Amino acid sequence: MRLRSAQWYDGQDRNAYIHRAWMRRGVPGSAFTGRPQIAIANTASDLTPCNAHLNEVAASVRDGVYEAGGVPLDLPVVSLGETQVRPTAMLWRNMAAMATEEMLRANPLDGVVLLGGCDKTIPALLMAAASVDLPAVVVPGGPMLTGTFRGRPLGCGTDVWRLSEEVRAGTLTAAEFTRSESSMIRSRGHCNTMGTASTMALVAEALGTVVPGVAGTPAPDSRLLEAAHGTGRLAVEMVAADRRPGTFLTKGSFHNAIVALAAVGGSTNAVVHLLAIAGRLGVDLTLDDFDRIGSRVPVLVDLQPAGRFLMDDLHRAGGLRAVLREVRDLLDPDALTVTGAPLVNSLEDAAVWDSEVIRPRGEPLVAEGGIAVLRGNLAPAGALIKPAAASARLLRHRGRALVFDSVEDFHARVDDPDLDVDADSVLVLRGCGPKGYPGMPEVANMPLPKKLLARGVRDMVRVCDGRMSGTAYGTVVLHVAPEAAAGGPLARVRTGDVIDLDVPARRLDVDVPSEELARRTADVATVAGFARPRRGWERLYVDHVTQADTGADLDFLIGSSGSRVSRESH
Ligand code: FES
Repeated sequence: MRLRSAQWYDGQDRNAYIHRAWMRRGVPGSAFTGRPQIAIANTASDLTPCNAHLNEVAASVRDGVYEAGGVPLDLPVVSLGETQVRPTAMLWRNMAAMATEEMLRANPLDGVVLLGGCDKTIPALLMAAASVDLPAVVVPGGPMLTGTFRGRPLGCGTDVWRLSEEVRAGTLTAAEFTRSESSMIRSRGHCNTMGTASTMALVAEALGTVVPGVAGTPAPDSRLLEAAHGTGRLAVEMVAADRRPGTFLTKGSFHNAIVALAAVGGSTNAVVHLLAIAGRLGVDLTLDDFDRIGSRVPVLVDLQPAGRFLMDDLHRAGGLRAVLREVRDLLDPDALTVTGAPLVNSLEDAAVWDSEVIRPRGEPLVAEGGIAVLRGNLAPAGALIKPAAASARLLRHRGRALVFDSVEDFHARVDDPDLDVDADSVLVLRGCGPKGYPGMPEVANMPLPKKLLARGVRDMVRVCDGRMSGTAYGTVVLHVAPEAAAGGPLARVRTGDVIDLDVPARRLDVDVPSEELARRTADVATVAGFARPRRGWERLYVDHVTQADTGADLDFLIGSSGSRVSRESH
């Protein structure tokens, strides 16, 4: 098989000379004669602290690539630190994907190892790899180790919400809250709850893009480096086998990813990411597939935010393979992985070592997990709720809407002692969708009004066109589509309208006659914060981003361009 990189390096002409000569710098000529050129797309960055250790992982990948006869090439790519990037890392996911895709295509590469960790990094890398369609395999950077504060384990992210609510409720001092900071982040690695980073690593493995058994390995664990070495070797093998995403990622692969998402009780953010990756591959995945496939899957993993344990507990208990073995009959037996073998083949020797962390199929944490897809006159294109993270008593609820037009409006009024709100109210926050914010921030899990917290209220129904952190919990309806800023009905709701949530019936409605709702003006200009950006990425993003129900990708990035460059000579 002639390598793609041979288009740059083969021959005696001036172009081949230039391509080789500038890469020599001590590299032997044999590097350019039939050896697969493997990029290591690396999201290591000091500003993405969850991924800062990936240079060490990359070194192990390099060793593996060399050992298998390939040539490893560092390719630093756009990195997104979830806690640092403003206004929200989601605004930049598509940019990171586009930049990575273009660099993979533009360079003399035959395959790629994708190094990610923090929330958006693995999704962006997979979107890029799917569109350029070169042999690609992910090494997830792994979660951090569990920290403790006052003898109790701290769930990174989830306990930030809990502790901050305690400060607002007056049961924890601000000084104590600050003291817990350095206990929260104990080691290298990404958040250790079942947040978006953990979810996407596990889901990427179930999808087939990670060597089975690797996702969830804690970042400081030496077995991660061993896995990185093996993955480097595999990348060379994948080039020889022409094993590209387009050749092995099918609807069945996404079916398995959804089963895994439900069984681990994963983040709602996985929905927009999987829809976007599928869109790049031309796989016909819809929002309803998440409900249809995921809702009959039991939640087996007892991890925060829905449960008790943390990611290193999951790894100790047997990891994703042990979870998937419990639900093996629900998996697509034909869906393949980067190894070339079906995912189900990798489950043979998997075992559960701690049935408190990974529950037996017959004793699940939640009998029917997954993510429920709601529709109704408030969400014609769909909205999500994660029942396992919600209060059971609120899954059927009618209450008066209290509408906030923006995050700023919410913060300005939520703690007003005169706010007309009670425990049955439904908090509505709009203007937070992909276009409205822009970037669809994780604000749907609105903090509760202070005066209700003081009365002991700990959960209320909340409705938003934005997203929710995977580390958050509560009865939160999110990803409402179309969003208010795109003229969705959420823009027509008024404070005092009665909202009807019925999760078992999969409904989200506002109890306003359709004629009255139609008469009301969906004046998006009144949704504060929405103004078409004047220039730059934000302008491109707002003009082209799709709604949450189709993955919030840019409309012109959907699909694949393959690895062929548009002009091949100069
Ligand atoms: Fe990076 Fe949570 S902030 S994974």
